[in-house]
Parts: sequence; structure tokens; C-alpha cells
Amino acid sequence: MPVITFANAKGGAGKTTAALLLATELARLGHRVTILDADPQRWITQWHEISGAQPNIDVISEVTTASLQCHIRDAGRYSDYIVVDLAGARDALVSTSLGLSDHVMIPIQGCAMDARGGAQILDLIHRMESASGRAIAHSVVLTRVTSLVTTRALLTIKGLLAARGVNVMDTPIAERSAFREIFDCGGTLYGMDPAKISNLDKARENARLFAEEVMRRLPVRVVRSQTPRNILRLVRSAA
Ligand SMILES: Nc1ncnc2c1ncn2[C@@H]1O[C@H](COP(=O)(O)OP(=O)(O)OP(=O)(O)O)[C@@H](O)[C@H]1O
Ligand SMILES: [Mg+2]
Repeated sequence: MPVITFANAKGGAGKTTAALLLATELARLGHRVTILDADPQRWITQWHEISGAQPNIDVISEVTTASLQCHIRDAGRYSDYIVVDLAGARDALVSTSLGLSDHVMIPIQGCAMDARGGAQILDLIHRMESASGRAIAHSVVLTRVTSLVTTRALLTIKGLLAARGVNVMDTPIAERSAFREIFDCGGTLYGMDPAKISNLDKARENARLFAEEVMRRLPVRVVRSQTPRNILRLVRSAA
């Protein structure tokens, strides 16, 4: 039951969008997914309210630092994957979630090239890793990538981050109207009308490739080794 957390200290980097695309793709493939909506803005919760019941997807709202671990434990009994959507912050809830994750995804806007919020999360992860002696698997995912961002530019960013030891997902998330519409219409990319949404086929393909790469990056069998005491130490070290 891997826990995948989406984190970037800066708002608007594309965390919620990427988290929802991953969750809906995993659910479409038949996996049971629980999304923990740990953002007080409740975007995923609102999506769920307008969508109605979605096969294989549960959403838990009002997730706090105190309740996160219980939610993960409870959801782990009936879920194949747990996806955590965090607010654009760098607080105790963020550190707790990083400490409980099997993989942290750090969305960074490919077009804006504004990596400061992502760098804060990378810094936090490194501090937590050195304090605990345990690696926290993480990857940067470039988001909102437009056709103006060339393959060469993406390779350059990837190279720069790789030189600093940061993994970058091979599959960026493109700027697509379907990825905005999903929050207005509810449901998934597969409930949308291709006649009304431009490049819907490309959006579906992008979401599929992204989810497949995330799954490839997860350990085959995740061993949950974090005890509550370890997590408390991790969070204190990050404060
Ligand atoms: N790939 C994309 N294509 C088109 N629009 C996108 C894409 N990713 C994000 N957006 C839009 O950008 C805005 C911010 O995205 P999102 O809410 O996913 O970011 P966030 O990091 O979760 O923000 P916050 O920190 O405020 O929670 C939203 O209006 C969303 O619809
Ligand atoms: Mg969000």
C-alpha cells in the first residue's frame, strides 16, 4: 500500500492536478485508491462532491497533522494506493506526510521554471534524511509544460537537477484544458466529450504515461518501517 505525497511549498505548482490525475488513472486500472485531502482549500473534496461516487476512489477530507497517520493506517486496510494532496506550505503537516511517504512527487511548473517552492521541499527531505538515516524516495515532475518548452529545454532542466542528485520524471504533465475541466466537470478524463475538450486523447495518454511511470518508480514491495517514534523525531528534526 504505497503512500505517494504531492508536495511543493509554493502554491499553484500543479500538485492537486497531478495528484488527481494519478489517482483517477490508478482507479481506472482497477486499483483501489484513497486520496487524503490535506489541503484546507479542499479542492479534491470539492471534485469528489461534484463527481459523485467514483469506482475505486475514496476521498478523506479534514486531514490534520494529528490524524494523518491514523488515516494512512485505516486506508491501508482497504486501499492499494494512498495519494496525499498537500497545501502549498512547509509546515508540520508537510513534514509528517513526507516522513510517512513511500514516494514524494514534487511538481514544478516547467514553463515558469520557478523551482523555489520545490527546492524548499527538496531541502526539507534532505534534512529529514540526514536526521533519520533513512532515504525518502522522491522525484520532480515538470508540470504545465507547453509546446513552447522544447525537448531540449526539458533535457537541460533535467540535466541541471540530475547534477544535484535530483530525479526528474521522464513524463512531464502538459498544459491541457482537460486537466482544468476535470475540476469543473467532476468525474474523470474518460467521462469527457472529445468533441468538446481539445486534445482529450493527448491528455488521456499523458495521464496514463504519468501514472505508469509513478508505478514503475515505486518499490515492488513497500516495507513500512516508520514507527510513530521515528516519525516524531523526523518531524522535530525538520521543524
Ligand atoms: N497541467 C495543467 N494543465 C492545465 N492547467 C493546469 C495544469 N496544472 C495545473 N493547472 C491549473 O493551474 C492552477 C493551479 O493548479 P493546482 O491547483 O493543481 O496547483 P497546486 O499546486 O495544487 O496549488 P495549491 O498550492 O494552491 O494547492 C489550477 O487552476 C489548475 O487548473
Ligand atoms: Mg492544491
